Amino acid sequence: MREKTEVQNKAETGLELTSPLLRVEDLRLYFRTTQGVVQAVDRISFALERNQALAILGESGCGKTSLARAILRLLPRNVHTYTGRIEIDGVDVMPWSEERFRREVRWTKISMVSQAAMNSLNPVLRVGDQIAEPLIIHKNMDRKSAWARAREAVQLVGVPVDFLQRYAFELSGGMRQRAVIAMALVTNPDLIILDEPTSALDVLTQANIMNVLKNIKKDLQKSYILITHDIATSSELADQVAIMYAGQIVEWGSAEDFYPNPLHPYSQKLMASVPRLREDRPLDFIAGRPPSLINPPPGCRFAARCPAKFAQCEHEPPMIEVEGRRLVKCWLYR
Ligand SMILES: Nc1ncnc2c1ncn2[C@@H]1O[C@H](COP(=O)(O)OP(=O)(O)OP(=O)(O)O)[C@@H](O)[C@H]1O
Ligand SMILES: [Mg+2]
Repeated sequence: MREKTEVQNKAETGLELTSPLLRVEDLRLYFRTTQGVVQAVDRISFALERNQALAILGESGCGKTSLARAILRLLPRNVHTYTGRIEIDGVDVMPWSEERFRREVRWTKISMVSQAAMNSLNPVLRVGDQIAEPLIIHKNMDRKSAWARAREAVQLVGVPVDFLQRYAFELSGGMRQRAVIAMALVTNPDLIILDEPTSALDVLTQANIMNVLKNIKKDLQKSYILITHDIATSSELADQVAIMYAGQIVEWGSAEDFYPNPLHPYSQKLMASVPRLREDRPLDFIAGRPPSLINPPPGCRFAARCPAKFAQCEHEPPMIEVEGRRLVKCWLYR
């Protein structure tokens, strides 16, 4: 039945229907706390094609890191709910055992640069040993071949090879960040999730690292998920943009469509809060706070802060398609 619809789709759209690199469907990750259940990732669905960079934007606490952890099944002990589909190259990996997932997905297919990873490098190991480690653990390589691969990886991120012999404390923040990116690249995954990779760095170093990522994407055909609240930096790399609010994706579209013309009132506020040099415009801010993720409001989660709110917003809006290619979770577009 499903096959038939795909064939029909193909006939209608003329598109070649290969599976996307990653498809997430109805993903939920809830945590148990003493105050109640936190719905950090709530019914999230999206697909990411090969050689694409997806920027996930949203303010602190909206669930960006939790989404990344859910995709890589890096779960804390207090998980309450972890359900949905995660398809990699068309195969749902949710039912896979932890052993199989670790062997075939984590690091080999998808790797991650965790939030603040550059500050958690091991101080007593040489950087080279830390970059080589995923190969020894996940690809069963011996130390010598792993170091050879590590040497290639550091060249990709634009640092001298002698840097492998150094210790983390001998490196600047930008260099440490490049080291952790090299670590994520060394196993040659298809997809790299970068959680706030440049937020602790100065703007020039940020731009440098974004360029490194762009070149790697072009030369090695990698895909990225770039998690950030830095809208300006994200626009350097993103092909697709997802805006998250209170555990959900509220807008999805291509970078080309999104940056000049965000649709969701939250996205518009978020974009208006970006300072621009030499523009005499007061900075916008969003009054109020995001709702608690324990018992979030039943209707639109942004309604309480939304300047465009109307009666309908008491009900949860679906994802509404706009211009045939953008999605927005807002009744204004019905
Ligand atoms: N292990 C956990 N147990 C309980 N609650 C958690 C846990 N991890 C995250 N949370 C909560 O889930 C929500 C989403 O957190 P998350 O870290 O995913 O947000 P974020 O968008 O990455 O924020 P930031 O931009 O500050 O990194 C927050 O309310 C957070 O307090
Ligand atoms: Mg985070």
